Amino acid sequence: MTSELTIKKPDDWHVHFRDGAMMQAVLPDTSAHFGRALVMPNLVPPVVTMKDAEAYRQRITASIPKGSSFKPLMTLYLTQDTDPDDVAAAFSAGLITAVKLYPAGATTNSDSGVRDVSKVTAVLERMAEIGLPLCVHGEVTDADVDIFDREAVFIDKVLDPLRQRTPGLRVIMEHVTTEDGVKYVQSAAKDLAATITTHHLMINRNHIFQGGIRPHYYCLPIAKREKHRLALRQAAVSGDSRFFLGTDSAPHVDGAKESACGCAGVYNAPNTLACLAHVFEEEGALDKLEAFVSLNGASYYGLSVSEEMITLKKQPTPVTTDAKLSTAEGEVTVFNPMCDVHWCVV
Ligand code: DOR
Ligand code: ZN
Repeated sequence: MTSELTIKKPDDWHVHFRDGAMMQAVLPDTSAHFGRALVMPNLVPPVVTMKDAEAYRQRITASIPKGSSFKPLMTLYLTQDTDPDDVAAAFSAGLITAVKLYPAGATTNSDSGVRDVSKVTAVLERMAEIGLPLCVHGEVTDADVDIFDREAVFIDKVLDPLRQRTPGLRVIMEHVTTEDGVKYVQSAAKDLAATITTHHLMINRNHIFQGGIRPHYYCLPIAKREKHRLALRQAAVSGDSRFFLGTDSAPHVDGAKESACGCAGVYNAPNTLACLAHVFEEEGALDKLEAFVSLNGASYYGLSVSEEMITLKKQPTPVTTDAKLSTAEGEVTVFNPMCDVHWCVV
């Protein structure tokens, strides 16, 4: 039985750092375990232009704990007014790694997102030309589509037509949550990949309502039924290089989650790797963990793999993670996997 695992330092291909005091509080949790992270641009106001991304990168860099080699990888928030030249300039300057498409209204701070994807054709065509990947929040927002069907409908109605119209565009389906999403990625001849979060590998929709409503399991896309969680697990442990980790670690203070209209987001940065070791061990696939967290994403983005290593150890007794992170804005609840986890990063 494996009780110690040394792997290349992981990357997180989807994280929310926010800004100001919240960013100061959460950055150490990600930079402790990850070499790089793709930083989401859904601030208020969002990170829309090259200038915004430059300023945000500087604020992040100034907050990285001393001595850390952590590198933030920046994204731009696509709007219907995004200028293809500005995007191309940011990419050729090495400032951005991807552009993020939020359908307007799909999730936290997505109001400035895209209402009509036909309005961003020029940007997408330019991105295909220069090889700049598009990260997609893959959910439709129509009120008449059931929340549990939003991802599957998005694939049929928006994503597939968009990919057909824009050959060569490299797309990452962010936080894929359904068997439909997994199959769609597997069926693509090229240019398509997906990130999977830690929590979607561990919870299904029952967890959100177990014994009462549990706002800390509410995120978007919402966790689906068990068969989808199992499909995600199969994809994650398969070693297929099109699937890699994007934690979607998304801090909100407890007051904003435990509310009559609570925010979507799970804060899992502190215990993500411990939880993933637990999941991969359950699946008898600890030998595939490194591919999922450290190799596949770098390869999709054409970046070199980290030269640093980290070690995970299995402890004889369950390892506890602090249940809350204190921030100057209030407490943030850390993802509770609702099972004993024996792994930790040493
Ligand atoms: O649950 C989520 N929280 N999903 C998202 O897409 C955004 C994120 C956030 O920013 O809080
Ligand atoms: Zn996210």
